[in-house]
Amino acid sequence: MCKDEKTIKDLIIGRRVGFYKVRGEIGCGTFSRVKLAFHALTKDKVALKVLDKTRLDSQAQRLLSKEISSMECLQHPNVVCLYEVMEKPSRLYLVLEYAGGGDLHNRLSTQGKLSENACKITFAQILSAIKYMHNINVIHRDLKAENVLFTSSGCIKVADFGFSTQVSNRNDALDTFCGSPPYAAPELFRDECYLGASVDVWAMGVLLFFMVTGTMPFRAETMGKLRRCVIECEYTLPPWVPGPCQRLIRGILKEAPADRYAVDQMLGCDWLLPVQFPWTLVPPEPASPLQGLLDSERRDLEEEVEEEVRGLLEELGFTGPQGGTLVLISFSFFFNAGTTASR
Ligand code: ADE
Repeated sequence: MCKDEKTIKDLIIGRRVGFYKVRGEIGCGTFSRVKLAFHALTKDKVALKVLDKTRLDSQAQRLLSKEISSMECLQHPNVVCLYEVMEKPSRLYLVLEYAGGGDLHNRLSTQGKLSENACKITFAQILSAIKYMHNINVIHRDLKAENVLFTSSGCIKVADFGFSTQVSNRNDALDTFCGSPPYAAPELFRDECYLGASVDVWAMGVLLFFMVTGTMPFRAETMGKLRRCVIECEYTLPPWVPGPCQRLIRGILKEAPADRYAVDQMLGCDWLLPVQFPWTLVPPEPASPLQGLLDSERRDLEEEVEEEVRGLLEELGFTGPQGGTLVLISFSFFFNAGTTASR
């Protein structure tokens, strides 16, 4: 494929990176742009995060290397997966799992608050992702609605590990102020050090408030006023928010990190009790609707890939059902092995 003239031209002008055909921009940050891309053979969509290495100062380089090493450890259905990292002389490419359903911030801004059921299902998935990350000592440090993505089938994917860090111990104190002020815990404004897990928990409280009410708990015209509201833990929960949900939000948004709910207390709260946590169940126990959705999405993708590969093989003259199946199996093994090995 590399010998074909168009591919060479696309590689030179950046319309193609490795096996990926690059399409339009779907996001951008201070040092990066995120583009939609397709795998040339499987047609899988990916999000390609493109970083211009020449523009990264030493702090940005440190953050990037933390982002990559955190993501390399993570494999969870509610966390955007890093498939591989590619490097060119002036650019670095992170090939990321694509979540095509938009982000939670955009959804809340355009459609208003979520229904109580949607809040539970969304929050449970964020919680599942955070519990998993904290168990392996990865702290996100930039949880916000913009970083909560939906797949096209409505599953949640926590994204953007650009401020994440790994601690060697849960009680390790951190000292770098990260994240977005409206989601920042009081200790980030007040103290010199903080515990990573507690600031992620606080941000989840802000997220939950935002999902349930459609508004942010801490808002102000100036940074100084916002800081005061957060430090004094001054927020008003509308009285129509159901009692069990109010108790959960109040348990999370506590001024002192030590008084704040831990992830396991959130999991056991009354409000979430009727929600099943699909990814802590071992199949073939009762399949939840979300697991079903994930399975069918994967099956559809596998069928699509198989169809495509079958077509390509037929073009190459592999037409017999037996021979075709054999080649398909080895191709699929090769493909899966390659994807896993590059993580
Ligand atoms: N924007 C940033 N990251 C993304 C991803 N993984 N999928 C879709 N859009 C994104």
